[in-house]
Amino acid sequence: ITVYVPRDSAALAVGADRVARRIAEEAARRGLDVQLVRNGSRGLFWLEPLVEVGTPAGRVAYGPVTVTDVAGLFDAGFLAGAAHALHLGLTDEIPYLKKQERVTFARMGITDPLSLADYQALEGYAGLRRALAMAPADIVQQMLDSGLRGRGGAAFPAGIKWKTVLATSAAQKYIVCNADEGDSGTFSDRMTMEGDPFMLIEGMTIAGIATGATQGYVYVRSEYPHAIAALNAAIARAEAAGFLGEDILGSGHAFRLEVRKGAGSYVCGEETALLESLEGKRGIVRAKPPLPAIEGLFGQPTLINNVITLASVPLILARGAEFYRDFGVGRSRGTLPMQLAGNIKHGGLVEKAFGVTLRELLYDYGGGSASGRPIKAVQVGGPLGAYLPESQWDLPLDYEAYAAVGGTVGHGGIVVHDDTADLSKLARYAMEFCAIESCGKCTPCRIGSTRGVEVIDKIRADQNRPQQVILLRDLCNTMVHGSLCAMGGMTPFPVLSALDHFPEDFGIVTPDREAA
Ligand code: NAI
Ligand code: SF4
Repeated sequence: ITVYVPRDSAALAVGADRVARRIAEEAARRGLDVQLVRNGSRGLFWLEPLVEVGTPAGRVAYGPVTVTDVAGLFDAGFLAGAAHALHLGLTDEIPYLKKQERVTFARMGITDPLSLADYQALEGYAGLRRALAMAPADIVQQMLDSGLRGRGGAAFPAGIKWKTVLATSAAQKYIVCNADEGDSGTFSDRMTMEGDPFMLIEGMTIAGIATGATQGYVYVRSEYPHAIAALNAAIARAEAAGFLGEDILGSGHAFRLEVRKGAGSYVCGEETALLESLEGKRGIVRAKPPLPAIEGLFGQPTLINNVITLASVPLILARGAEFYRDFGVGRSRGTLPMQLAGNIKHGGLVEKAFGVTLRELLYDYGGGSASGRPIKAVQVGGPLGAYLPESQWDLPLDYEAYAAVGGTVGHGGIVVHDDTADLSKLARYAMEFCAIESCGKCTPCRIGSTRGVEVIDKIRADQNRPQQVILLRDLCNTMVHGSLCAMGGMTPFPVLSALDHFPEDFGIVTPDREAA
């Protein structure tokens, strides 16, 4: 009998290791033959540790399981999928999972992340095998046709970036994976590295073959020790099996891959600061042009993509560009693994095609706020994303539709606040975050963010409020147009959205409301 206990950080944080040990002990004590598999997480975080049992009808879930529940589960016959207070039925039938479109995350939580056999049994390495039989330009064409756009947040068409790198000629090109997942409330990169690392490795290998790069680096934030360990273990196994190295599967193609650890700086997620850091220097943003695709790591052509962008590649190659492109709306093709966090009852990973609404995500999946109070504001797209009021929750989740209202889809992070939130405090936090994390290279961001905190403090304290509001808007305008990178350039988004949609939190009484 196989019992699955996740090894994802979200499960470990709530005692999955202790539960796994307890299950092994209890099985031994009862003389039962139980095979424990440490799978990735299904992404239903409020149910972690989510323990599953393989039965003839399919995998049956129990959760959240604590060590004190284990003996009772054995007594109730959970190894046969029997009823128990924690019994959740067949895992695949849990509505939160069943309603999703798990395309990129198809294997997530199902396989043992470090098992190459599991990976290959569920389409793993089918994309690489196809790519090895194709000309580089044809692989790039597949990427263009798929409509995949950069999932780190900027949504630049991945195929165009690949084409730019392919067109360069250099003795050494690089593939760099940006795994410095720094956005608040985001974890899809981490889940991928911990729960399906071969998918990222395969995507990077295909990128290398397509663009002529033979060396890859994954730049992972230091706060992700389990992801770093999983990646290193998976790389070693892929090398031993001939999927990485000097002669991949006897094709004559070479691709080597190494993991590099960041040191806790948000701005090192900006691609040029990341490259500086990777070169061993302080993480300061470089002016563009030149684009990294032309002059990147050590001055050589470099393809930099986010984890989810690269992880989407194997399936696009295995199933064909049309398969992927058929999901989504408008120019937002494919799916996005969205991350529900903050004050939400059912936090976790929801992969859906673009076009889903925030309201569906908040209520059909998230189940409303964790506090049970009304939801007031939702920040989408990380700390640089706008706060969306309820009037915007029915917009289709689509890069263009969000941009039209001053919002960002970003990396798909969704952080929920209930009606006790004070948006003027959150606006202040956004400015303060920028002041702390600014690399200091340009004036609007370095100085503007500190002045921004002071101005918001004055507004909150009602010191000459009307004039300070004008000053804040003026300052935000300068930051948007005068900053060198998104750090200073996007900090005004949360600030201005808070001011525009929740003026009463700043002590501003609008004429309408006064009349009412
Ligand atoms: P960007 O718009 O400057 O660039 C997007 C990408 O396209 C870059 O890799 C750039 O080098 C490339 N590119 C642009 N023109 C090109 C061309 N003609 N040929 C080839 N490549 C080209 O945006 P940036 O500054 O890289 O990213 C900003 C975004 O990052 C924001 O939207 C924000 O949402 C996101 N972000 C994500 C975080 C995370 O944790 N995932 C953290 C912070 C910000
Ligand atoms: Fe550095 Fe901020 Fe300027 Fe970006 S906007 S280059 S983080 S000072």
